Amino acid sequence: MATTATMMAAKEAVKIHEIVLYPDPVLAKMCEPVTVFDAALRRLVAEMFESMYVGQGIGLAAPQIAITKRLTVIDVSFRKDPKDKLVLINPEIVETRGRQVEEEGCLSLPDIREKVRRAAWVKVKAQNEHGEWFEVEGEELLARAILHEIDHLNGVLFIDLISRLKRELVLRKIRKMQKNGEW
Ligand code: NI
Repeated sequence: MATTATMMAAKEAVKIHEIVLYPDPVLAKMCEPVTVFDAALRRLVAEMFESMYVGQGIGLAAPQIAITKRLTVIDVSFRKDPKDKLVLINPEIVETRGRQVEEEGCLSLPDIREKVRRAAWVKVKAQNEHGEWFEVEGEELLARAILHEIDHLNGVLFIDLISRLKRELVLRKIRKMQKNGEW
């Protein structure tokens, strides 16, 4: 049993990682499978959740903190329901169904939002932070988040999925923000 003091110390020790912004080349890398499921991995998972919450995100993939491993965390309820905390390690898409077209954003592309076509429902299998395989199904926002985060592990960003014209407009906006020191 931990004392209040040690619990507070443990809480303070959670490192908040800086989120890598587009066009950092690490975001375009194909990530490597996670092979070691140890205390360091579980600490990294906790750090990823906290870094995601600080960034006001509902999903974060390891390459977004410059770690090219197949690891992502998702919480579509943003802390409201602990059951929504999802850790996907080495995820594989088992099945998709339907279509949805909704606006999407990304912590590596702040202030950019575009409509992206995704499957409306997805089933994935993945390992948890203890290395155990499990399956999870998601629809609507959860399906979108799962597919967005798995894309990150393959070096794909949501702006890679929109029309060339729209992407040109997004890149122009980013260049302007970079010039103004806002990116
Ligand atoms: Ni993203």
